Amino acid sequence: MAKTLLITGASGFLGRTLVKEILSQSDDTLHLLVRSGDTETVLTNDLGDLVSSRVHFVRGDITESNCGVPREIQTQLKSRIDELWHLAASTTFDDNRAEEIRRVNVGGTQNVISLARHFDKLCRFYYMSTAYVCGKRTDVIDEDDIDDSQGFKNVYEKTKWESEGIVRASGLPFTIIRPSILIGDSRSGDSMGEARMMYGYLLALYHAARHAIGGATDFPRYWHRAETGRRANVNARLYGAGEVTKNMVTVDDVVRVCMAIRASGGLAEGQTFNVVNSRNLPIAYIVDSMQRALRLTGYYYDASLPPTGLLTDNKVERAAYRCTRPFFPYARYTEPSWVCNHRPISNIPRVAMTEELFDFLMRRFVEDTLVSKPR
Ligand SMILES: NC(=O)c1ccc[n+]([C@@H]2O[C@H](COP(=O)([O-])OP(=O)(O)OC[C@H]3O[C@@H](n4cnc5c(N)ncnc54)[C@H](OP(=O)(O)O)[C@@H]3O)[C@@H](O)[C@H]2O)c1
Repeated sequence: MAKTLLITGASGFLGRTLVKEILSQSDDTLHLLVRSGDTETVLTNDLGDLVSSRVHFVRGDITESNCGVPREIQTQLKSRIDELWHLAASTTFDDNRAEEIRRVNVGGTQNVISLARHFDKLCRFYYMSTAYVCGKRTDVIDEDDIDDSQGFKNVYEKTKWESEGIVRASGLPFTIIRPSILIGDSRSGDSMGEARMMYGYLLALYHAARHAIGGATDFPRYWHRAETGRRANVNARLYGAGEVTKNMVTVDDVVRVCMAIRASGGLAEGQTFNVVNSRNLPIAYIVDSMQRALRLTGYYYDASLPPTGLLTDNKVERAAYRCTRPFFPYARYTEPSWVCNHRPISNIPRVAMTEELFDFLMRRFVEDTLVSKPR
């Protein structure tokens, strides 16, 4: 039977893919909470033919009481909403923005929960958490276990961990979903305009290397020439240890898991799902793949680089050190072993993160964003 959903964070990387999948796989009606008319326009264009009488925009901001949703809209939604998907978050790793991150992630989740309490027939509150609520732990991470004894790598992780606690204590019928690092679509390679996480790291390497390749406007020319010709050797060390591994999940894989959790109905109530990949990749491989996609050579990890500052005459190395700083904790802590046991998703086909798939995603990103549209 068709349901009515309220979704926060629908304009985000994961939200856009989730909304498209729900609209194309069901007759459900979606109310999408958006902060501004601009976001509404972008989302409308992105959804294209999928926009119909089943899509409604609700203007609001999760940092405001009841998410700033006008009282008359709250009244309209009161008897309609069956499911709430809370994806909106501040996903920056910049601890200088701690207050804002806390306001959005912790205060925002409290406000979304308060709004959810108005809904008479809410049967599920889905909270999009992160596998990195495990913080600095590198041991076995259970699905219900959120021990914080080893601390967190940044404010983002800590606030997501706190939000999980708030959701669990809310008394709402919750399901918590914890993806690891999101990356583009495994089939098309589309990064959907995303420029953070792995793409952010690749862009940092690209920006740092611009001295060596003659500036942004010359990059497409350099890149085409370098297919068969000489590749610039930046000879630059990077902060981190090459054997540290990272876990990545493609956005289509996560959405497929979300749909399976949804389809499992009552089975998933009160459960938490670690949505991680069966394969990790070492960061030495990740950087090699990125520089192959950029057609550069000479970036390598040096575990002896200090985290507090670097004196060097090498301009590329200096810039790379500065640009990759938000990622430093992730280049030091290897991944834990996440347990993924819960029934509803243990049988569905998953996308394995192979070296070939990662190479494909990096190459597509460079072709789409740096070669066709120089930054
Ligand atoms: N990206 C990852 O690698 C990753 C991994 C694991 C878990 N997650 C979790 O998955 C969820 C989605 O991540 P994402 O990468 O898709 O996020 P994203 O691209 O950064 O998008 C964030 C979304 O939250 C909305 N938002 C932010 N502040 C808001 C506010 N005050 N009021 C209303 N909406 C607000 C944004 O709206 P605007 O368009 O108006 O900015 C946007 O739709 C998050 O909860 C994140 O913690 C992400």
